[in-house]
Amino acid sequence: MTTPLLLSIDQGTTSSRAMLFEKNSSTFAVAQREFTQFYPQSGWVEHDPEEIWKTTLTVCQEALATARAANRKVATIGITNQRETTLIWDRHTGKPIYNAIVWQDRRTAERCRDLQQQGHSDKVASKTGLLLDPYFSGTKIAWILDNVEGARARADKGELAFGTIDSFLMWRLTNGRVHATDATNAGRTLLFNIHTNSWDDELCALLDVPRSLLPEVHDSAANFCTTDKSVLGEELPVAGVAGDQHAASIGQVCFQPGMVKSTYGTGCFMMLNTGTEAIPSTHRLLTTIAYRLDGVTTYAIEGSIFVAGAAVQWLRDGLGIIQSAEETQSMAMSLEDNQGVYLVPAFTGLGAPHWDAEARGALFGLTRDSGPAVVTRAALEAVCYQTMDLLNAMRKDGASINTVRVDGGMVKNDWLTQYLANVLDIAIERPRQTETTALGAAYLAGLQTGMYGSLDELTANWQQEHEFTPTMDDELRKRVTAGWADAVRRTRSNY
Ligand code: G3P
Repeated sequence: MTTPLLLSIDQGTTSSRAMLFEKNSSTFAVAQREFTQFYPQSGWVEHDPEEIWKTTLTVCQEALATARAANRKVATIGITNQRETTLIWDRHTGKPIYNAIVWQDRRTAERCRDLQQQGHSDKVASKTGLLLDPYFSGTKIAWILDNVEGARARADKGELAFGTIDSFLMWRLTNGRVHATDATNAGRTLLFNIHTNSWDDELCALLDVPRSLLPEVHDSAANFCTTDKSVLGEELPVAGVAGDQHAASIGQVCFQPGMVKSTYGTGCFMMLNTGTEAIPSTHRLLTTIAYRLDGVTTYAIEGSIFVAGAAVQWLRDGLGIIQSAEETQSMAMSLEDNQGVYLVPAFTGLGAPHWDAEARGALFGLTRDSGPAVVTRAALEAVCYQTMDLLNAMRKDGASINTVRVDGGMVKNDWLTQYLANVLDIAIERPRQTETTALGAAYLAGLQTGMYGSLDELTANWQQEHEFTPTMDDELRKRVTAGWADAVRRTRSNY
């Protein structure tokens, strides 16, 4: 009998995907749909929840049809998702009362500043590991309650539910029977105490979020729910859930303290496993739950940057200077150097280690002959310099890091990955399976349902495809990294 497949739902910032994996981590099938990004005002980013649901349902149905056509059984579902993106829906109808406010959205910057000025930063950081930044869900929830007519009164009556995307999908997959999330997603709301592993009444009161809105929190591998037959045509257990960056850490099998992964999706998120100890950062990084298994929490230090793949999407959809992401490699390689041009893609502010919600993107060093190639190269280089800033902050926090495991769509670009090794001055390991986010969710579901017996079994699945080692001379590295630092300084909102 053939081993059953694992279905992973990867609901990301720009697309919904369903991936079927073999037990050995190879890909059996992929279905993917991009969906609309809404920018109603400067710094605002929204998604239509019904489009998120429709695209997710479509890709799941496609993947399941592929499995059926090949006579393969699907054992279980893992869900991974864009984190922090905030939804509130009506518990009776299941209808969202407002669009999803996306993690990149800056509309609550002023509210966060007020809370900082009132002196709440330390308390929030000590309980949640996070900073008071509009990135996280808490202030977004309050914004919806205060700006949608009647919402606060309905919330007080217990009629509404809050969820990150994983919760919303589970609600829909079960026709409203289950309101749940996992510890990694809960840990990104500003309302969850990552040390006690529970919703925190004091934080709920501070951010004005009624406790009745919040989902039940499980381990990342748990019996979350069973899908309703009417939805996917079969009843399947959802047995793994994690925010996408946490799932990527699992897919990269970063299970030992000191292991680091960096994922290149819409943004770039670097995570350093710190074991069962939650270590506070003194260099403006986040402390976060890496994963929670069998009630044991493993922590990480995280560096979050908001624009990585989104810069390439901007080259394609905003500027129209490329047709597809694949072209960026040959364009960057067509130039001998960056010609002194730097792009700081602070389109939605700057994340770690700057946390400047009001900064906006800037391009420096243009001359009369600067063309599409140099702007494209600057966009790719920016991804690498931002990663370097994160690595430096982790090192200043005391981490000793010798290699970084990379994943996500962008690292298929050899030029980018080599440039990353060059500016980080460190070995970069690219695995054979670069879809580690989706794989991580599948692994969680597989662990819970007994397909895998231990984390060691997952570790044995990991295979390196290529190691990129630094080839840049020190002088050039110093010059380009100084150019970048200067560009960032001039982009800051207080410049
Ligand atoms: O925190 C936001 C993050 O989860 C989004 O991930 O893959 O869309 O860049 P991604």
